[in-house]
Amino acid sequence: MSWFPQRRQRTWLQKGCEAILTVGPVPKHVAIIMDGNRRFAVKKSLAKCEGHLKGFDKLAETLEWCLDLGISEVTVYAFSIENFKRSSDEVSYLMELSRQKFAKLLQERDLIHKHGVCVRIIGDISLLPRDLQELLAEAVSISSENKRAILNVCFAYTARDDICMAMRELAIAVKEGQIKNSDISEELLEKCLYTSHSSPVDLLIRTSGETRLSDFLLWESSFSCLAFVKVLWPEFSIWHLYAAILHYQRNYNKIQIARQNQTIERERLQRDSDYHCMMEELSLETASRDSISCMTAPSPLSITTEHKSMQERVQQYAREREKRTEAFLSCVYE
Ligand code: FPP
Ligand code: MG
Repeated sequence: MSWFPQRRQRTWLQKGCEAILTVGPVPKHVAIIMDGNRRFAVKKSLAKCEGHLKGFDKLAETLEWCLDLGISEVTVYAFSIENFKRSSDEVSYLMELSRQKFAKLLQERDLIHKHGVCVRIIGDISLLPRDLQELLAEAVSISSENKRAILNVCFAYTARDDICMAMRELAIAVKEGQIKNSDISEELLEKCLYTSHSSPVDLLIRTSGETRLSDFLLWESSFSCLAFVKVLWPEFSIWHLYAAILHYQRNYNKIQIARQNQTIERERLQRDSDYHCMMEELSLETASRDSISCMTAPSPLSITTEHKSMQERVQQYAREREKRTEAFLSCVYE
């Protein structure tokens, strides 16, 4: 099947549901753990690998539903680093399926541009066969200017591997003096993750009835609405998607409040950190100053001047920190 199958006409009921759902907030970014392919194959007496083929078909269908609903970013768990531990036959099958599907995507480049989809690959692609790496890189390159929607395909990915890689980059930058230890914050670490250019994950769907995240977007899903759906991935239907969106809408206010609180808390922590770092710098400066002038009692006017200059010093410290971290990030994103 193509990545962009022939559009099926919506029934009046589907159109009605879509019209009602889109009155409420529709998630901008939906992430999906497409689980249950092999169980589906067993259930239908197919070869286990065929379950993955049906899984791809379902992915193509789901992307179309998402585009129609105005969901602008979809992230799918196509192959985890853990999946390399599966039988060599299954791993080879999944690699071959991906080769074929990405080659097809390149053949269908007119369709990608027509639908305005930008494809990104998330994961350590150096773990993949070289020819597949090249296909993936080409798919990313030809679609990079498309603006309507983003499809992130997680390939050779686990969230913990992503976080470790980000931490390694930060540690090296500290060691090389590009940034200071105290510059490391949640915000900076987040900007080193593969998803740094993505919008927040609003809704995370996992099929097959399993209620765990299996090392998928662990950082990014802290403030996401989770929907565990009891059908196997190839059985997922537009109705399950509608139900997941309804679940998101019911939880929308709580999620927004949690996100706002997190932003406020992050800003507070950053202000505290800047203040303490500035004070540390100041105490080092003061220690090297003439001890007699330090012991002179300050006049009320000099206290106000000192207070003002403290605020200015904190602001200046924050500007310098931002400059350091921006320079570091520009190297990371190169
Ligand atoms: C999980 O089901 C599914 C996978 C590990 C692979 C998912 C891959 C696809 C849907 C194809 C995507 C292809 C491209 C090119 C993006 P499972 O194997 O864990 O099934 P089970 O839970 O029933 O054992
Ligand atoms: Mg599974």
